[in-house]
Amino acid sequence: MKAIEIRNKYLNYFKKQGHEIIPSAPLIPENDPSVLFNTAGMQPLVPYLLGEKHPLGTRLVDYQKCVRTNDIEEVGDNRHLTYFEMLGNWSLGDYFKEESIQMSFEFLTKELGIPAEKISVTVFAGDKDCPRDERAAECWKKAGIKENQIYYYGKEDNWWIAGEEGPCGPDTEMFYDTGKPACCPECQPSCDCGKYVEIWNNVFMEYFKDKEGKYTKLEQQNVDTGLGLERMTMLLQGKETPFDTELFKPIMDKLVELEKVDIIESRRIIAEHLRSSMMIISDGGRPSNVDRGYILRRIIRRMVRHMNKLQINLDEISTLIKINVENLKEMYPELEKNYETIKSTIIEEKDKFVKTLTHGEKEFQKEMNKTKDQGKNKIDGQIVFKLYDTYGFPPEVTKELAEEHEMTVDIKKFEELFKEHQERSRQGSEQKFKGGLAEQNDTTIAYHTATHLLNAALKKILGEDTHQRGSNITVDRMRFDFNCDHKLTDEEKQDIENLVNDWIQQGIDVTVEEMKKEEAVKSGAECMFIEKYPDVVTVYSIGDISKELCGGPHVKNTRELGKFKIKKEEASSAGIRRIKAVLEN
Ligand code: ALA
Repeated sequence: MKAIEIRNKYLNYFKKQGHEIIPSAPLIPENDPSVLFNTAGMQPLVPYLLGEKHPLGTRLVDYQKCVRTNDIEEVGDNRHLTYFEMLGNWSLGDYFKEESIQMSFEFLTKELGIPAEKISVTVFAGDKDCPRDERAAECWKKAGIKENQIYYYGKEDNWWIAGEEGPCGPDTEMFYDTGKPACCPECQPSCDCGKYVEIWNNVFMEYFKDKEGKYTKLEQQNVDTGLGLERMTMLLQGKETPFDTELFKPIMDKLVELEKVDIIESRRIIAEHLRSSMMIISDGGRPSNVDRGYILRRIIRRMVRHMNKLQINLDEISTLIKINVENLKEMYPELEKNYETIKSTIIEEKDKFVKTLTHGEKEFQKEMNKTKDQGKNKIDGQIVFKLYDTYGFPPEVTKELAEEHEMTVDIKKFEELFKEHQERSRQGSEQKFKGGLAEQNDTTIAYHTATHLLNAALKKILGEDTHQRGSNITVDRMRFDFNCDHKLTDEEKQDIENLVNDWIQQGIDVTVEEMKKEEAVKSGAECMFIEKYPDVVTVYSIGDISKELCGGPHVKNTRELGKFKIKKEEASSAGIRRIKAVLEN
């Protein structure tokens, strides 16, 4: 079965079970600066797991594009990927353990045709925070799993949370027995010898973990599941690695044709990093030296170095991109749509890196010899940093170069220096982009104030539960995202526009005060990401119409804004609408 067929089977099966299909959110979370990329299907759904009503109901299903880069250095082995697709289904306070397990079992055995004997499951063994999950085990037995195929593990294996804080709970994981011989008599799903491969994770999300590590029960019992598409495809096709499936095969074959040196790890790194960077660029990512841009830069540069290692002409990158677009466009039509941008971004980044690559490699050679002459085999973090800072060498590239000469690098020291450096450049750019305005002038400042008025008007016309979910301002327009379960009617749009213009004409003063964060919240000040603000905050008020935590700056009086006009109203993502508006003189 091909990956796309598995995806479609999944969506259709859960649709039949009353789930609404929601689209994959972009890889780059639109309104959450705390996460670099979506790393799980649940991430865009956090507000709904916490109790907000989802406009499409309480049963949802989707495929979600994900990027995880913690294991970037492992890519090249037979299973690690930085980009992958996660199939997921959710119950938002709807069904719980029994139905969730029953549906997973039915999907695996009936829809995918996996014999029940090949499935083992793990459930939470219990601890001081949450009891042993006997209920999940019972449900598995009822569904058709034998007692000796059920294993109990602690939090390390059977508890799921995205990061340190947030909705979480015990999970039950499903494993596929590849039929390989057991590595030892004790071999079981937690063993990573390769006999058992994890295929699906159902999280019973009924807790919230706070910053202090305290668990409280959520208002509703949710189910959050995740099934890795590449891995399932590989298993169902009886392949050893995802690189042997149709997702990577055309690119792997082309690499074999182009390469002069045969190194399987490098071939996989190129194939994986190419797909990953294409997906990130397609969703709006661009290489840079900070945050997600830096991750993209590292992925592209590592790919380029491995192309060099295989002595593949770097001009062939365009051929490889084309092959990938052709191969993946059915699954990701956006790749074809964004083909030109993907191509130019990757080639530009490659060109930048190539300029310094040869010099950097020479510099590395020199420093390596010096280190050896000193009788050491660990390359100093200062040198790793210099190679990064002057020659654009991502640390893992230097590490790999060192390993090729049986040396190691002081990554810890590098990371310290890198952090200091990032902190300095961040402070610099915060000066430049104060308050999130890329360009500060009278026009963008006016738009910024108009954003607050629009936010207030939406509450009045659509209801107090309407909140800002994102915004973006240029000299030409403002863009504003907010939660709303329907397309605005012409009448609603007109009412919103009229209200904002009324307020503008009333000539209301904009005032600012500093106060403690808790006080600001208590006083009802609006704020998108409360935890992102320092203890003392500035609060901007527009008469008694609007009160928001905000870094400013703003106009002094609403009269300065001119005439407010809505140009467009459209969907941004599930349950989120977007307004584009202008101020006319
Ligand atoms: N959120 C769960 C995971 O990523 C399903 O494994």
